[in-house]
Amino acid sequence: MLHISLISVFPELYRSFLQTSLLKRAQERSIISVEADSLFSYSPPKKRIDAPAFGPGAGMVIKPYVVQSAVEDKQKKHGNAFKVFFSPHGKKLDQALLRDIAKRLKSFDHLMLLPARYEGMDARVEDEYADEIISIGDVVLMGGDIPAMIFLEGLLRLLPNVVGKQASIEDDSFTGALVDYPAYTEPIEWQGKKVPDVLRSGNHGAIEQFRRAQALERTLDGHVQWLREHCVDERDKKDVLQKLPAHYVVLMHDEVLIGKKEIKPGVTSVTSLDIHDIARSACTYGLSGYSIVTPLVDQQKIVQTLLDFWLNGQGQAYNQNRFDAVKNVTINKSLDDVIQKITESHGVAPLLIATSAKKVEHRGMITFFDQEVVWRQKRSVLLIFGTGQGLTSELIERCNYVLPPVGGFSEYNHLSVRSAAAIVFDRWLGINLKDLS
Ligand SMILES: C[S@@+](CC[C@H](N)C(=O)[O-])C[C@H]1O[C@@H](n2cnc3c(N)ncnc32)[C@H](O)[C@@H]1O
Repeated sequence: MLHISLISVFPELYRSFLQTSLLKRAQERSIISVEADSLFSYSPPKKRIDAPAFGPGAGMVIKPYVVQSAVEDKQKKHGNAFKVFFSPHGKKLDQALLRDIAKRLKSFDHLMLLPARYEGMDARVEDEYADEIISIGDVVLMGGDIPAMIFLEGLLRLLPNVVGKQASIEDDSFTGALVDYPAYTEPIEWQGKKVPDVLRSGNHGAIEQFRRAQALERTLDGHVQWLREHCVDERDKKDVLQKLPAHYVVLMHDEVLIGKKEIKPGVTSVTSLDIHDIARSACTYGLSGYSIVTPLVDQQKIVQTLLDFWLNGQGQAYNQNRFDAVKNVTINKSLDDVIQKITESHGVAPLLIATSAKKVEHRGMITFFDQEVVWRQKRSVLLIFGTGQGLTSELIERCNYVLPPVGGFSEYNHLSVRSAAAIVFDRWLGINLKDLS
């Protein structure tokens, strides 16, 4: 049995919460026991539990010795406690953190939750006692009691026998990289909307396939950040790539700005490194094609010669990986040519996303967290990179969206276009694991 000590300024808030549904049942079945106590009971009579914060600024802070006597009392009674504090500066709560805490909890005698009020607790208390400080999101609430309840609901769900069927936990959203599939019940038709036929077909294979496709769809439509932080499974990776709209990249040597003193539209020369390095990055991030645009016939010939080396005989024998990347590269005389070819193969024109090393004004500014906005439209995507001093404002104006410049905290920002392309691919399409287990 897991014992839980709750210490709050308002313990009465937990009364009906603890007497409801699965939490009530878990207590009745002796899976958990809970005590909710007032922080006031740990303060000497007639003494306040809080005092003004030192330094300028308003607000009352919970005194450390009150918390200390609560912790010492509970540990004396119930043994070593896993102590959780709640604060907006804490670790953001998610399913992975809950799973981690459920595991760590096993080596403690009980669980102690210490939600705060006012301006929070004296900072030394968290330093001294907290095994975890949890935030339920980037919001400031009036107190830590609702966060404590959220935490409890999530954590207890993971304990054996709290939820009726173990399968409902295993299928939960955020158990793997995906969110849960949509669920339906009676009636079969409601407000003109029917339960999908396959769910009533009795064909388990087809149902499983349908549900997986729906889960993928939902994840890509609203949980791309979770997906990229947790996508370890090879089957998930393959299915995600298949479900994503096709992405293409184009490197412009036309419709770009050139010059040092006087900057004006013009054409640039191709660079051999840009050809195979961007090809390799594009392949790594699952892009469907990489086009190089130059209107200059001589330049087209240079690119073709380089491609031929990797595509024919000698180059392929020397480096198969390079061949695999370079085979997706095409040479085009204009951006319109590239757009036309993509349109022909998908039946609809691609969404154009411009990139820029400088901040630009555009009606379609998006961020690297806006994949859903673009992907929801179910159209292929063309990422456009400029050489020279970047894309002309006319070209940028034509685009549906513009991504912000990539960079760090330094003032220096002179990335090569192949480096910028790799970073943009990674931010837009990359996996960035948060959890290695
Ligand atoms: C009014 S808040 C204090 C906010 C504090 N001045 C700040 O900006 O971080 C009072 C208490 O509510 C709880 N709380 C508020 N927002 C929270 C959040 N997003 N996650 C977890 N606890 C929160 C914490 O226990 C916090 O100490």
